[in-house]
Amino acid sequence: MRYQGKVVIVTGAASGIGAATAVRLADEGAQVICADINEAGAQATSERLAAGESAHFALGFNGGDAASCRGMVAQAVERAGRIDMLCNIAGIMAWGPVGRFSEEDFDRVLRINLSSLYYLSKAALPHLLETKGNIVNMASAAGLVGIAYNAAYCASKAGVIAMTRSMAIEFAAAGVRINAICPTGVKTPMTGTLDWPDDMDPALLMRNSSKMGEMIDAEDVAASVAFLGSEDARQITGVALPVDGAQTAG
Ligand SMILES: NC(=O)c1ccc[n+]([C@@H]2O[C@H](COP(=O)([O-])OP(=O)(O)OC[C@H]3O[C@@H](n4cnc5c(N)ncnc54)[C@H](O)[C@@H]3O)[C@@H](O)[C@H]2O)c1
Repeated sequence: MRYQGKVVIVTGAASGIGAATAVRLADEGAQVICADINEAGAQATSERLAAGESAHFALGFNGGDAASCRGMVAQAVERAGRIDMLCNIAGIMAWGPVGRFSEEDFDRVLRINLSSLYYLSKAALPHLLETKGNIVNMASAAGLVGIAYNAAYCASKAGVIAMTRSMAIEFAAAGVRINAICPTGVKTPMTGTLDWPDDMDPALLMRNSSKMGEMIDAEDVAASVAFLGSEDARQITGVALPVDGAQTAG
């Protein structure tokens, strides 16, 4: 019960890694605010969390919109009274050879996967300074190594890692920790619904995958989020932790 008495915002909580993280943190005692553009999905996750003493609730927001991010954090603080942890997990995937990948799609991936985390962190940090709280950002192994047909996604996740390191240094003395997690392929709706065009070379795509075998479970990533956000990791800030079966080890 490492999260007893803690209030945690989990973005992307309607699905996949975000939903698994909400479940894990609630199981460890947290009051969880499930935030997602899919408000009904966030509500559904919220309703299946371990009740404990906590009043979990759901909020809708659009990560691509700075005002919506600020509004969601403000509502969370108004209803819960404090924030101890922000889990920035919501994100999107878009594949395609560079020649056919539009400028609009590039901008959309960067806005939702990277700018959004800046908007949310900026809004949450004044509250995290009060609680000596922390942020866990969901980057990816794709932020540590290149993956073919994935330039926008790789750039967004490398940006998340760089932003994590920068903010970690800026807020370390104030007692706020900021870390990132870099998973390999995870079995979630994001990877289950990928539509790979015929002209993409599967051998290039699969060069980078876990050396332990299959894709991993969302619960494996949630366990790492729970560790990094807990007191067990109180001396850890500014890291980009691979959860990738040695995908990026060499
Ligand atoms: N699945 C993988 O293989 C994998 C690997 C490494 C990193 N990641 C990262 O983990 C995170 C979660 O991915 P997942 O696999 O659970 O995907 P998912 O598609 O199952 O869940 C993503 C969630 O983000 C929400 N979302 C999307 N756009 C949003 C927006 N504009 N505003 C608010 N919410 C929005 C979706 O509604 C969804 O609930 C993402 O950041 C992803 O890049 C995933």
